[in-house]
Amino acid sequence: METVDPNKVPKVRFYNGAEIPAVGLGTFGSDHVSADQIAEAVYQAVKIGYRLIDCAAVYDNEKEIGGALKRLFDEGIVKREDLWITSKVWNSMHHDVRGSFEKTCRDLGVDYLDLFLVHWPFPNSHAPGVSVDSRDPDAVPYRHRDFKRVWAVMEDLYEKGLCKNIGTSNQTIAKMKLLLSTCKVKPMVNEMEMHPHFQQPELFDFLKKNGIAAIGFCPIGSPARPERDKTVTDTVPIQDPVMIKIAKAHNVHPAVICVKWAVQRGQIPIPFSVKPPKFTMNLKCTTEDPLTDEEMNEIKSIDKNNRFIKGQVFLWSTAKDWHDLWDEDGTIAGW
Ligand SMILES: NC(=O)c1ccc[n+]([C@@H]2O[C@H](COP(=O)([O-])OP(=O)(O)OC[C@H]3O[C@@H](n4cnc5c(N)ncnc54)[C@H](OP(=O)(O)O)[C@@H]3O)[C@@H](O)[C@H]2O)c1
Repeated sequence: METVDPNKVPKVRFYNGAEIPAVGLGTFGSDHVSADQIAEAVYQAVKIGYRLIDCAAVYDNEKEIGGALKRLFDEGIVKREDLWITSKVWNSMHHDVRGSFEKTCRDLGVDYLDLFLVHWPFPNSHAPGVSVDSRDPDAVPYRHRDFKRVWAVMEDLYEKGLCKNIGTSNQTIAKMKLLLSTCKVKPMVNEMEMHPHFQQPELFDFLKKNGIAAIGFCPIGSPARPERDKTVTDTVPIQDPVMIKIAKAHNVHPAVICVKWAVQRGQIPIPFSVKPPKFTMNLKCTTEDPLTDEEMNEIKSIDKNNRFIKGQVFLWSTAKDWHDLWDEDGTIAGW
């Protein structure tokens, strides 16, 4: 088995001094990869050198991943403190963030998290696997007074040392500005969609200016995402001629170029695969054969502002369409 020295994998430093590995393993099975397969991938990935695992309660596999972690600890392969475990409070648990944190810890078999995120900034939820037309009858627009209550519990978990770092996910500049104006503890990180066809330069720069790191989800463009998350205008980053050309020059798959680009840009990609050759390459590629400045610039030029995870199922009854979720003109819809 090929292994990668975790000490050779670059790290990103948060404003509080914490250092997160610059690449991690995603664990969302996109409705077709089973919890057991993902848990086995976590076990194998840590064995080959991964240290960052991106979990979430809504992925419905934290118990199985907890089983994999127990094996790793029992077999002496790693200690708890060697790992960086991220999880997220799901939308339907905004009223009980502490309860969600405790359940995640029980399921994963750990007594603290390295990073806990608010998965989405509103409490709107959906049943697993629903179509994009499905709507939560109780869905509401973003309300900062509610989010402030959610964030206060996150701050408490941080101050008690139960979550070593806290952050947001799927935030916009407008919502982040509000949070920054009222929070006691600034988020260390925002997890957001980022790949060569959706680079989010304004939000990325805004976060950077404010000392907030960025974790990039769907870093390869999530080619196997559920059908409900696909629309006819979506493009495929790994089929982009520029990505194919650069991949040929480095003798790797274009997916690997997505990972290299993300790490060199300073974001933290969390690519998903349960296939050892793929997840091994995604880690190894961050330790060798970097992209040139020219290649980085070429990739910068292929941004298509093409959001794949649009979040339609979170829309409230009076919302126009999914654009209302993303504050594209700088104002919060329904506010
Ligand atoms: N915070 C949020 O709201 C949020 C939202 C979405 C996702 N996430 C997180 O982000 C993670 C990653 O996103 P994702 O799973 O949607 O998409 P992704 O990582 O962009 O894409 C995964 C796909 O890329 C393929 N792939 C991976 N490595 C490859 C390689 N070296 N060569 C060729 N193909 C490769 C996989 O192929 P195979 O199928 O063949 O393995 C899989 O189909 C999730 O697992 C989850 O942890 C977070």
